[in-house]
Amino acid sequence: MLTALWLVALMLAFQQDHSQTAPVQPLPYSHKTHLAIGLKCADCHTNPDPGDRMEFPDTATCMACHATIAKDNPAIQKLSEFAKSKQPIPWVRVYVVSAAVYWNHRSHLEAQVKCEACHGAVARMDVMANVTNVTTMAGCVDCHQQRKAGTGCAFCHEEK
Ligand code: HEC
Ligand code: HEC
Ligand code: HEC
Ligand code: HEC
Ligand code: HEC
Repeated sequence: MLTALWLVALMLAFQQDHSQTAPVQPLPYSHKTHLAIGLKCADCHTNPDPGDRMEFPDTATCMACHATIAKDNPAIQKLSEFAKSKQPIPWVRVYVVSAAVYWNHRSHLEAQVKCEACHGAVARMDVMANVTNVTTMAGCVDCHQQRKAGTGCAFCHEEK
């Protein structure tokens, strides 16, 4: 009986909807525009210890340019209001892995997995969307099989 329930849960996990989801964000930030002017991922997304998370940029990072660039644009006026309020911009999350799963960015970056392998062609995106299946179990396991990384259940389902 328990085995049957386990299998049903597993099948549901594999059947997850992979439809592209692009939430409406508080500001119309475009990766395409900003990467085209030569910015690098690391200018905005750092990976502080212990390396699980990639950080979102501080509003000050944006204002370094937007104190002068396009400051009459209504979206930039909204940006400077966020900056003045000293509240972080409430970006809506796009990629989210179940908290029950062990996940760490840094070990993947150290294994030379490129951002684009998991997040798609970011430099072409005006609006950030979940365009891969990396937040599903199948997405993790497919790549782990190809790259000969661990596929045992405890590899991802047990705290390290
Ligand atoms: C100028 C700053 C900036 C640069 C450069 C930048 N990003 Fe971002 N990134 C953001 C901001 C702001 C958000 C939140 C708004 C959004 O989702 O579009 C974000 C969101 C994301 C997200 C969605 C995270 C989530 O789960 O919500 C991913 C993935 C991402 N960026 C990847 C990249 C990659 C890969 C690069 C380099 C190719 C890059 N970014 C370069 C500012 C930047
Ligand atoms: C290195 C300088 C630089 C940085 C840093 C920067 N931007 Fe920009 N941003 C630009 C330029 C250049 C444009 C294009 C301006 C134009 O088209 O008139 C732009 C355009 C925009 C626009 C207008 C988009 C549109 O089409 O209406 C928004 C919104 C924006 N940026 C938000 C941000 C946010 C949020 C951050 C921080 C996460 C940020 N920018 C960081 C240079 C920068
Ligand atoms: C092996 C796949 C993989 C690679 C490589 C990868 N990411 Fe992620 N990224 C994820 C997953 C999975 C999540 C969701 C994590 C969560 O919910 O805790 C995520 C979340 C994010 C977030 C949201 C904040 C967070 O950490 O939860 C940002 C921003 C981001 N990634 C940027 C990047 C950038 C920039 C790179 C390259 C330097 C990169 N990612 C490389 C899989 C990857
Ligand atoms: C595009 C390929 C790719 C994807 C997608 C991917 N991984 Fe990995 N993963 C790797 C590689 C390569 C390694 C390093 C293996 C090594 O060092 O032997 C690794 C290592 C790991 C490790 C061991 C290192 C550590 O941090 O303890 C865990 C756990 C892990 N991945 C979990 C996940 C999870 C969970 C997901 C999905 C949310 C995922 N991976 C998605 C390629 C990937
Ligand atoms: C490479 C990482 C990885 C490995 C290996 C892995 N899983 Fe998962 N598993 C995940 C991720 C990520 C999710 C969350 C998927 C989601 O939220 O859609 C998940 C979800 C599940 C779920 C659904 C319930 C839940 O927590 O959301 C079950 C059941 C499950 N895994 C069982 C297993 C079993 C059994 C094995 C061994 C045969 C295994 N997993 C191996 C990454 C992994």
